[in-house]
Amino acid sequence: MSENIKKIIIAIDGHSSCGKSTVAKEIAGKLNYIFIDSGAMYRAVTLYCLRNNLIKNGKVDIAQLSTNLDQIKVYFRFNEETRHNDIWLNGENVEQEIRLLAVSQNVSPVAAVAEVRHLLVALQQEMGKSKGIVMDGRDIGTVVFPEAELKIFMTAQPDVRAKRRFDELTAKGEKVSYEEIKANIIERDRYDETRDESPLRKADDAIVLDNSFMTREEQFEWILSRIDGR
Ligand code: CDP
Repeated sequence: MSENIKKIIIAIDGHSSCGKSTVAKEIAGKLNYIFIDSGAMYRAVTLYCLRNNLIKNGKVDIAQLSTNLDQIKVYFRFNEETRHNDIWLNGENVEQEIRLLAVSQNVSPVAAVAEVRHLLVALQQEMGKSKGIVMDGRDIGTVVFPEAELKIFMTAQPDVRAKRRFDELTAKGEKVSYEEIKANIIERDRYDETRDESPLRKADDAIVLDNSFMTREEQFEWILSRIDGR
């Protein structure tokens, strides 16, 4: 791709576990763009909450979390080995730990806290200032970058998504059942879509990509074909 082509912002939103990060990473690699997994930032804050007993029976201690927010430093650092940005929490690489099911089971209530969203959205907007970025999440096309030049809303059938996430976690050696994964996916979608603060929804100008019956290569090409000037 020519260097003179204007850099844009690509926003990829959608349902849980439909492969947003995977394809976003591939597109960023192809275009030589920065890739940011905004979900990793919400997961890192959730890990902080779990470690500091700020979640009891699925309920977040919002008052305490808000007081502690200035002690929570979440940022990305380039990993030379994987050639991707890892997520760090207060000086520790937590890229692996944030993917555990225990984090997935608690992240939606944390992501619904307005103070958490304000903090993370400001960081995300800063990262996109120079454009040339692919960011995936739930509110990227609606709130973080409403001016993004390309917005994609990704989805897939729940069973397909559950199977993919089950395979991913069991391949890493995590002992999980297909049923609990599927329940988590459905519950997170419900929670994310019905929260008051920046609920998950398709931006009016986003294009829908249902990848239930697509290969990774097909969805990669599908997105590339929608980028002007390729
Ligand atoms: O990869 P997966 O689809 O499982 O989820 P994720 O992208 O890692 O996001 C984890 C959770 O963070 C979501 O279920 C949302 O509750 C929250 N999230 C959000 O509220 N806003 C974002 N921009 C990204 C994630």
